[in-house]
Amino acid sequence: MSEDRILGPHLDRAGRDRSLLVLRPTENRRSAPSIRATAFVFEDPASQALHQELEQIAPSDASVVIIGETGTGKELVARFIHDQSARAQGPFIAVNCGALVESLVEAELFGYEKGAFTGATQTQIGWFEAANGGTLFLDEIGDLPLNLQVKLLRVLQEREVVRLGSRKSIPVNVRLVAATNVDLNGAVAAGTFREDLFFRLNVASVRLLALRDRPGDIMPLATHFRSVYAQSLERKALAFSPAAEHALLSYAWPGNIRELENVVHYAMLMARGAAIEPQDLRFTAIRAPDRAPTNLEEELRPLLEKYLNAATADVYDRVLGLLIRTAYDSAGANQVRAAESLGVTRNTLRTHLAHLGVIAPRRAP
Ligand SMILES: Nc1ncnc2c1ncn2[C@@H]1O[C@H](COP(=O)(O)OP(=O)(O)OP(=O)(O)O)[C@@H](O)[C@H]1O
Ligand SMILES: [Mg+2]
Repeated sequence: MSEDRILGPHLDRAGRDRSLLVLRPTENRRSAPSIRATAFVFEDPASQALHQELEQIAPSDASVVIIGETGTGKELVARFIHDQSARAQGPFIAVNCGALVESLVEAELFGYEKGAFTGATQTQIGWFEAANGGTLFLDEIGDLPLNLQVKLLRVLQEREVVRLGSRKSIPVNVRLVAATNVDLNGAVAAGTFREDLFFRLNVASVRLLALRDRPGDIMPLATHFRSVYAQSLERKALAFSPAAEHALLSYAWPGNIRELENVVHYAMLMARGAAIEPQDLRFTAIRAPDRAPTNLEEELRPLLEKYLNAATADVYDRVLGLLIRTAYDSAGANQVRAAESLGVTRNTLRTHLAHLGVIAPRRAP
């Protein structure tokens, strides 16, 4: 294969081009190395555990869901899984579901025949066919409209696609890796994500910690990006002064690794001394959302009223379940922290979690 192929522009919310991207097979990529795509930092004990987990998951053909805040490395991990799999020589295709025009998603995913709709001037294969023999990475899967979730499920079950405007089924051999920064359990509970699709996708799930929860990665990543930008800016790889290191380690990194990369890039542009100093570090990200909104009642009440008025019988269970799961997931499955954030005892939390089937029920004494 020769060039990367970009089919049609899809800008994401930040305006970045997230077009359909077919990466060259690993061999070719090695001959034209992309430092970003090949260098992985897994230094913190939590990341080393993740690395092992990835090594185990990668060789299989299992679907994988990658969960993580923005900038935690979801796409990098998806590529890692692909590169370590038997499909490494096949295509890796990244599609951002959040950046798609709703009316065109189906055509883009499954392709279309000439004349299938106004503007379909030629037959076009969709992403599933393009990823044949390789990996299809569906980013922000939580943004996929419900009607397309049904169709995606069908493709996963039948392992074949039908182009728009055609009746012919075309077999596809694709491994699916999906990423989300929203809690899909919560989305299932809220009815915006289909449970059957969730189970189909979630054969293996990988949770990427926020950078602040794996502090052992901060300096190795900073050093890594320092070298990357020293090379691209053609300047000496400066060291971080102790004060700069302290600043990097004390910051909360709401934008995670992506933000760290930007901070180091900027520092390498600006630093004039023999080392990178605190004044060279510009922490620009918008503050992390306030974790304790003071107007909880005000914000929640109208929503609850809406659902209560829709008169579904199980609002109580769903709201309670969602509350418990959200607390548990955002505490990274740490029961003590989840209980603390809810203001209940760990026992109470465990009772709810067992009731929801998240953990095994306690045995009678
Ligand atoms: N473990 C890692 N080692 C080295 N670089 C990393 C690692 N994880 C992420 N990065 C780098 O950090 C940046 C952000 O990673 P990536 O784009 O994969 O995150 P993301 O979770 O997909 O972000 P977003 O939610 O914004 O799409 C990229 O430049 C990526 O190469
Ligand atoms: Mg991403």
